[in-house]
Amino acid sequence: MSYSPDLSEKTAVVTGGGKGIGKAIALGLAQCGAKVVVAARTAGEIEAVADQIRSAGGQAHAKVTDLTQSDQIEALVQDTVNTFGGINILVNNAARSFFRPLIDLREDGFDKIFDTNVKATFLLSRAAAKIMMQQGGGRIINITTVGAERGGPMMGIYHSSKAAVKMLTMCMATEWASMNILVNAVGPGMTRTHFSQPIWANPEIERQLVSRIPQGRLAEPQDIVGAVLFLCSDAAGFITGQTIYVDGGTLANS
Ligand SMILES: NC(=O)c1ccc[n+]([C@@H]2O[C@H](COP(=O)([O-])OP(=O)(O)OC[C@H]3O[C@@H](n4cnc5c(N)ncnc54)[C@H](OP(=O)(O)O)[C@@H]3O)[C@@H](O)[C@H]2O)c1
Repeated sequence: MSYSPDLSEKTAVVTGGGKGIGKAIALGLAQCGAKVVVAARTAGEIEAVADQIRSAGGQAHAKVTDLTQSDQIEALVQDTVNTFGGINILVNNAARSFFRPLIDLREDGFDKIFDTNVKATFLLSRAAAKIMMQQGGGRIINITTVGAERGGPMMGIYHSSKAAVKMLTMCMATEWASMNILVNAVGPGMTRTHFSQPIWANPEIERQLVSRIPQGRLAEPQDIVGAVLFLCSDAAGFITGQTIYVDGGTLANS
């Protein structure tokens, strides 16, 4: 990646960093010199990302974490502080969804989506912010989606959860700005990952999707990284409460 702000004094936590967009963000932060803690439930995936960072000369730590468990959120923060001495950057990237109509979504499906996407974002941000306050500041970046801005079928509770994360971003930004904790969001358009595979794996659906994206293609995970690095950089020092959409013009075309 050509854009490479100096993050060599920083420690970053990336949730859902074992694959997809989170993996690309973890590797991007490490290339900028940050020490990176990669967190998700699948040990093999996060260990592989941490190994890749260490093989390239960086510092990384993998922490198995189920973000729906508040004690594991606390353990992630404590483990990061014990390993690297603090937390300067938190990327709340992990999320889940179910691809089905609202009429068929079960109550426990709603709970899994909101617990992972909204409640964990709040609990982890709050726990990290307590560390950042002691250190004199920090950056929190929440990964949302273009779906936070408009209705649509099959992922209604997921989109509702991400709209909640957008509002949470603004509220945390408002309360924590005086502590020099800047909170922003990055909203990808449709990105080619495991998460969205049920959608883009069908060539006809992919063709229809791409026809509505002005830049004429889906995003790749690497496309999302630059906006996150910018929001972690000194250049973004007076930006808080914002969402940057990385969507090839999708929302402009709605
Ligand atoms: N792909 C897209 O088209 C797209 C578009 C817009 C926004 N986004 C957003 O981008 C972010 C990353 O998505 P992606 O496409 O990269 O998805 P992905 O490849 O499916 O990765 C999701 C990550 O979240 C982790 N995760 C899920 N539940 C978890 C839990 N309870 N505890 C800890 N980790 C958990 C998963 O790891 P484990 O299963 O190992 O825990 C995985 O590493 C999400 O916030 C998503 O909403 C994606």
